[in-house]
Amino acid sequence: MITPQPRTDKLTITLIGCGNMGGAMIRGWLQANIIQQAYIYNHEPLADDLMAHGQIHFAPDFSALADHLNQSDLLILAIKPQGMADLMTDISAHIPDALPVLSVAAGLSHAFFAAYIGAAHPFIRVMPNTPAAIGQGMSGAYATPSVSDDSKSAVNALLSAIGAYIWINDETQMDAITAVSGSGPAYIFHFIEALTNAAKALGFDDSSATTLARQTVIGAASLAAAQPDVDATTLRKNVTSPGGTTEAGLKVLMQNEQGNLEQLLTATVKAAEARGKALGKA
Ligand SMILES: NC(=O)c1ccc[n+]([C@@H]2O[C@H](COP(=O)([O-])OP(=O)(O)OC[C@H]3O[C@@H](n4cnc5c(N)ncnc54)[C@H](OP(=O)(O)O)[C@@H]3O)[C@@H](O)[C@H]2O)c1
Repeated sequence: MITPQPRTDKLTITLIGCGNMGGAMIRGWLQANIIQQAYIYNHEPLADDLMAHGQIHFAPDFSALADHLNQSDLLILAIKPQGMADLMTDISAHIPDALPVLSVAAGLSHAFFAAYIGAAHPFIRVMPNTPAAIGQGMSGAYATPSVSDDSKSAVNALLSAIGAYIWINDETQMDAITAVSGSGPAYIFHFIEALTNAAKALGFDDSSATTLARQTVIGAASLAAAQPDVDATTLRKNVTSPGGTTEAGLKVLMQNEQGNLEQLLTATVKAAEARGKALGKA
């Protein structure tokens, strides 16, 4: 999908839910200096640094919601999926017709929100992941046809401030996004666990094994990040001399008769995708 460039003017947003994900996003947006005003609704007061921030207006109840929504470029929903039906029942009458609604709630489809705001209301669904908290997130985004180019470019600005992003044309691919990049950090953390245990099997103590495995993953990821135009196959080949130690190790990972890493990862993301589809129907 071709999308417009990120908007360069500052945005006014209303954010409902400022826990792990809402908090990570707003910090990234403030850091990137793309927020004009943020009206933030949360059950609990925000962290002190956010409460003291000049562009943040904390609201403990919905008494000024209609006014805040009228001034906003986007309404962003970042509460847990279980609370969303009650929230939408409470607020949908206050949402102006043209105000785009963006949800990061896992598993909740456009059809769910359409029941409250109407199918034609501009709606954006985003699946970020936890590295968004340090500006290294990977998000997948889907927009309904009624979302304007201007709103998409606002979303581009928001998502680029917390990492990288792609747009998808088909909302059903959101389960695949969740399976690959949403759950992906856990696969990489498990890779670190497995490499740590493998190092221990070669005789290293816990601390040395952990350092060896963790820093190897961090270093390799950083090297890939530093060379964005070099594909992963080339990066791998660069550390693989013919007949050397890496090649001997990779033969097990890539050509093992019990199944190689690619087959295992394909089965992993398919299982996660299937679970996402099942949860979406529940
Ligand atoms: N965390 C992740 O890694 C991640 C990744 C991708 C997507 N997401 C999505 O992001 C959403 C938020 O997840 P999270 O981990 O950030 O959850 P969280 O830490 O529980 O944050 C949600 C916050 O919203 C507050 N809240 C709930 N209902 C509210 C309401 N009606 N009005 C005002 N505040 C309300 C909650 O307060 P109470 O605790 O008092 O209810 C909580 O502080 C979820 O839908 C999740 O699927 C999260």
